[in-house]
Amino acid sequence: MWYKKSISKLVAEAEQSGEGTLKRTLSSRGLVALGVGAIIGAGLFSLTGIAAADHAGPAVMLSFIIAAVGCAFAGLCYAEFASMIPVAGSAYTYSYATMGEFMAWIIGWDLVLEYALAAATVAASWSQYFNQLLLIFGLELPPELLTGPWEGGMVNLPAIVVVCLLSLLLMRGTQESSFVNNILVVLKVAVVLLFIALGWQFIDPANHTPFIPVNEGETLLKKGEIGFFDFFKEGYFGHYGISGVLRAAGVVFFAFIGFDAVSTAAQEAKNPKKGMPIGIIGSLIICTILYVLFSYVMTGLAPYTDFKGDAKPVATAFEKTGYHFLNTAMIVTIIAGYTSVILVMLLGQSRVFYTMSKDGLLPKIFSDLSKRQTPWKTNLIFMVFVSVFAGFVPVSDLGHMVSIGTLLAFTLVCIGVLVLRKKNPMAERPFKTPFVPLVPILGIIVCVAMMASLPLESWERLAIWMIIGVVVYFLYGKKHSVLRKEIESGESNGSGR
Ligand code: ALA
Repeated sequence: MWYKKSISKLVAEAEQSGEGTLKRTLSSRGLVALGVGAIIGAGLFSLTGIAAADHAGPAVMLSFIIAAVGCAFAGLCYAEFASMIPVAGSAYTYSYATMGEFMAWIIGWDLVLEYALAAATVAASWSQYFNQLLLIFGLELPPELLTGPWEGGMVNLPAIVVVCLLSLLLMRGTQESSFVNNILVVLKVAVVLLFIALGWQFIDPANHTPFIPVNEGETLLKKGEIGFFDFFKEGYFGHYGISGVLRAAGVVFFAFIGFDAVSTAAQEAKNPKKGMPIGIIGSLIICTILYVLFSYVMTGLAPYTDFKGDAKPVATAFEKTGYHFLNTAMIVTIIAGYTSVILVMLLGQSRVFYTMSKDGLLPKIFSDLSKRQTPWKTNLIFMVFVSVFAGFVPVSDLGHMVSIGTLLAFTLVCIGVLVLRKKNPMAERPFKTPFVPLVPILGIIVCVAMMASLPLESWERLAIWMIIGVVVYFLYGKKHSVLRKEIESGESNGSGR
């Protein structure tokens, strides 16, 4: 259970090329685009309004900065690993080298929550904007084909269709997918810039005051009229005030998920040692700047209360400008933006399972490559898996699962950097996380704090998913582990226990 892969072995494996290996086609710019492709999506275009209306008011800008700082700590840790161990498995592989096979399995299993379920979440919201577009053209889908049975419909059909189409694209090839992704990213960034540029002149400063709406509970707490526990018990926490800004940070965290997906493409990067840090940190910086400006304009265009329960805040805010004719273009581009998120998430998921299967922890079917060197059977299996979730499960339940799963992965990567610095201080690190141990420790604190702010049900679901994972490991993975067989037969140069 505690066998570890040696880093030199991992790097050697990653450097193999030819038949049965992934192709190196992605440049640094392609990697940044991949990151931006995964990052800007439902989080920005849907959740910003909800976070402002319910939790932070115009100060949602600050929430974006807080969430970004948390992600930056984890991002720096990811960059160190991804440049050092540039293989397709991302956090899964880093744990294999630092904390042993069992922890690696746990994290790989957990990443399904991040990648597969994020693809499902965004696909489910994709269909709302798609329907909006159909309406503009005078077409309409029956409502029962737009939401799953728990939300009063039958099935979210457009969500299933988009997942299937993108899975087919991924089976065609990474290069083709990266090409499509680049186009989508340009469109998506263009719409964000357009929104900021056109909206700026219509900002009404009155909408930005008060910057942080008052939280009555915080005032009472300061005056000593209620105790610390009452503040939580009475439900004051998170409704505006400082606590609201923090709660909103937990909500908009979803908008940053995806920068780590860059690391899953490490084995397809032309020069991973340089490209990985640039891809991860670069995409995070670009998105943070865009998000802060975007939320500034959005909350300046309309009073934050206007966004209550609004799944399309961009349209609501844009109504206040004189550019109504651009609304359709906005919707089209937002659909494009969501599409690229789904694409990169599906890509990341298949690469993690590819690597786990190569290691023998999952059946071989997950690492079979097509003639075009894509793990097409994995793509196919996840096409079905993700479609089921996207078609039938409510979006909010999916979203929380994604956040908790991702935060767990981030936490383990931060721990991994600390472990490896101690155990293997001399290993070559093309990119070094600055201020170790401070940065990883802060990363752990921020991620755990954000996990704690999520509802109890998501913790329960996380536990159930993990228990299933442990059972699968003991029934299958442990017995078939390639590393274990090698070490026990004395063939491996792995680092054993
Ligand atoms: N960050 C991605 C989004 O906002 C998951 O849609």
